[in-house]
Amino acid sequence: MARPLSAPRGTRDLLPEDAPAWERMEAIARDLSRRYAFDRIDIPLFERVELFARGLGESSDAVEKEMFRVSGASGSEEERAEWALRPEPTAGIVRAYVEHGLHVRPGPLRLWMLGPMFRYDRPQAGRYRQFSQWDVEVIGDPGPMVDVELIELAHRFFAEAGIRDTVAHVNSIGDAACRPGYRAALVAYFGAHEHQLSEDSRRRLHVNPLRVLDDRLLDPELAAGAPRSVDHLCTSCTEHFATVRDLLDSLGLPYVVDHRLVRGLDYYTRTTFEFFVAGREGQQHALAGGGRYDGLAELLGGRPTPGIGFGLGIDRAVLAAAEQGESPGPQEALVVVVSARTDALEPRLRVGAALREAGLRVRIDGSARKLGRQLESAARLGARWAVIVGEELDRGDVVVRDLQSREQRAVPLATAPELLKQSA
Ligand code: HAM
Repeated sequence: MARPLSAPRGTRDLLPEDAPAWERMEAIARDLSRRYAFDRIDIPLFERVELFARGLGESSDAVEKEMFRVSGASGSEEERAEWALRPEPTAGIVRAYVEHGLHVRPGPLRLWMLGPMFRYDRPQAGRYRQFSQWDVEVIGDPGPMVDVELIELAHRFFAEAGIRDTVAHVNSIGDAACRPGYRAALVAYFGAHEHQLSEDSRRRLHVNPLRVLDDRLLDPELAAGAPRSVDHLCTSCTEHFATVRDLLDSLGLPYVVDHRLVRGLDYYTRTTFEFFVAGREGQQHALAGGGRYDGLAELLGGRPTPGIGFGLGIDRAVLAAAEQGESPGPQEALVVVVSARTDALEPRLRVGAALREAGLRVRIDGSARKLGRQLESAARLGARWAVIVGEELDRGDVVVRDLQSREQRAVPLATAPELLKQSA
């Protein structure tokens, strides 16, 4: 026998029994995208490495350590380009925005998508190498109202998904005017404590000192004493952040200001935020994360355009809902079409098609087994009803059998769907 193969580490198969919980999350995401007037966008699963290097930053974990590189066949320059599976969608969406000149459309643009992302990280519970995100982006709106609208949207997702006690961590990391001053303050502070830093942080200190703050190995006391971005904001960033907090307060949305929340991707400016279940606030437990990226379009060759968005991890939402005892609810009733006439395949198909046309969920037993066996199989499949196709079909009737009470009666095929739907 050939050796069986297994799925790559850090990936998971979505088995039929897992699907309802996923579909529930995806349905909430789709429905909220509609209610908040977002338009769907889809971008490729892979892009040029250069897009991620420019957009997310060379020193971001996603680019430096977690890139799934893809190589094409050798040949033309295009085919030799270095590609990578997308670690996140924002850079690709803004690339598409610039490439298609979407700035000429009536804005701000509100875009959403749902799909797999890839990061070559060390897999653990809730951290996968292939995971799914619901992503929303608003391009062309400088805020601050939209910042709060998005935080409210994420809160609403969790409420509708039955995930309780979620809290938003928010921060502002400034813009091109005030960030340099803050960076310098961080370099000075951490530079004086370099011996206490991890190897990663020592290396990053001069390239990207903000990232030192979200180093998991950073000494908590050292972190507590570190300069805070909010103390280095310019006037306009200070005002922006104050309005965001005021609006969050007035809407009664739960949040805390988290001075260490700098986010792992370099494109962020001003407002940043992440969502957790209160009490489970480690990085790898983030249910959603996002923020403003006012410099990204320009970095990717477009004109200066403000933007903000978030990504919400569907895998983690499914896990959190299950941990809190939330279940996807009962499956839609199943109908199985059976027949004692082993030669009667065409009538089964015809009856099956009629029931499906009426919107029912139908399987057809195509076997030549005895009727009793077919009914047993239908019950094992969890069917609620069997529709038995026999001689009565000549008169336009079928026999509808309740597989729980075992009662049955002949009804016209034309009215059978009504009966089956009523008592589903
Ligand atoms: P992110 O914080 O890297 O942001 O990812 C967003 C969410 O995706 C996380 O909060 C988490 O729920 C989920 N996630 C990330 N990595 C993994 C993983 N390895 N396994 C399972 N789930 C994961 C972004 O990706 C930004 N593009 C968000 C954004 C949109 N910012 C502005 N617009």
